[in-house]
Amino acid sequence: MNILVVGRGGREHSIVMNLAQCNTANQLYAAPGNGGIAKMATCVEISEMDIDRLVEFAKENTIDLTIVGPENPLLAGIANRFQEENLTIFAPTKEAALLEGSKRFAKSFMQKYDIPTAEHASFTDADDAKKYIEVKGAPIVIKADGLAAGKGVVVAETKQEANETVDDMLVNKAFADAGATIVIEECLIGKEFSLMAFVHENNVYPMIPARDHKRAYDDDQGPNTGGMGAYAPVPDISQETLDYTVDKILQKTAEGLLNEGRPFTGILYAGLIMTDNGPKVIEFNTRFGDPETQVVLPLLTNNLLQVFQDVMNGINPALEWEGKCCAGVVVAAKGYPASYEKGIPLSGLKPYGDEFVVHAGTRQADSGFVSDGGRVLLVGAKGSTLSRAVEDSYKCLDTLALSDEFFYRRDIGKK
Ligand code: AMP
Ligand code: GLY
Repeated sequence: MNILVVGRGGREHSIVMNLAQCNTANQLYAAPGNGGIAKMATCVEISEMDIDRLVEFAKENTIDLTIVGPENPLLAGIANRFQEENLTIFAPTKEAALLEGSKRFAKSFMQKYDIPTAEHASFTDADDAKKYIEVKGAPIVIKADGLAAGKGVVVAETKQEANETVDDMLVNKAFADAGATIVIEECLIGKEFSLMAFVHENNVYPMIPARDHKRAYDDDQGPNTGGMGAYAPVPDISQETLDYTVDKILQKTAEGLLNEGRPFTGILYAGLIMTDNGPKVIEFNTRFGDPETQVVLPLLTNNLLQVFQDVMNGINPALEWEGKCCAGVVVAAKGYPASYEKGIPLSGLKPYGDEFVVHAGTRQADSGFVSDGGRVLLVGAKGSTLSRAVEDSYKCLDTLALSDEFFYRRDIGKK
């Protein structure tokens, strides 16, 4: 089979690694890919947002299956276009991906289908928003409606901070159109976890849960990032909670979307907080999480290609998981998530070979690998216990002898 993976991050490298193990006869392509992906797939220089050229490439190279990593092409309608051209793609249409693309849509959808989430209201007018904040008090959470690369959420500790955030988004247009509408919601208290599932229409096949570490620095300090490390599964989340999450959240969501005329095919991701009243949704993503994917897929024992095919054909893929734990630590360029340099040599990096060095922002230069993004690598390990997996991840990091142009958190999985 000819398979195309769209994207360029650690998540896509992880998907490619897994597919590469499935059957060596398959021809793997990535657009645009990265330095690590290039070692196991043919990378083609087409941006993930250039849907016309992706369609053209898929036709010319008789691509049998396309997998999409990031959210932007989903909302730009990549699945719609591929389907119109009779190309097989495991990804939601833009109508279904609106669950990630609009927080207002997601919140009213959850309200309609009685899916547990924080109490909320949506606003386009700053004065109305501030009146609501005055009544509700702080802490309170302000979210830009549209895609904001993980930066559109502020957990305001005081009413003043909340009001300033409202002004930032609605008056100063900090997120342009993505912040023209805002959602203000109740601040939930509890531990976070993520649960992803393979979904086709009303069939939902859950993966194991994972926990991301969103803040840039140790002890959850510093700005929110795309994710600085993760582990799976999550020992403090019980099977009962997982069953509840699958039934009352993922299954209901898939059925609700079908009912709304927005049938979902792809990966449904629920970001959750375990409150005293059970798990509640803080966000939906309509794709594989990054970095969760890098610690979940290594524990999947099924053939991933077969899973995609089964799910799309309405067959239960009978997912099976290695009874181990997996941890991963993200290596980022100094300055990330604000401005950072690219092109820094990864001189300590051995040629690709260790299955737990996942490339995110890297590029192969004449001199060897160099950095090409904010999040550069994810270094991870599997172990019989979480602490073992964490320990081995850090040991592996030590052997890489990274320069001080890079940083990583030292407390992944240690809380
Ligand atoms: P998101 O980009 O929606 O995942 O939000 C980023 C982070 O903000 C989450 O990982 C949470 O830590 C926090 N957050 C979002 N919504 C809430 C909420 N309703 N209550 C408390 N924390 C929240
Ligand atoms: N790790 C959170 C995300 O993928 O959005």
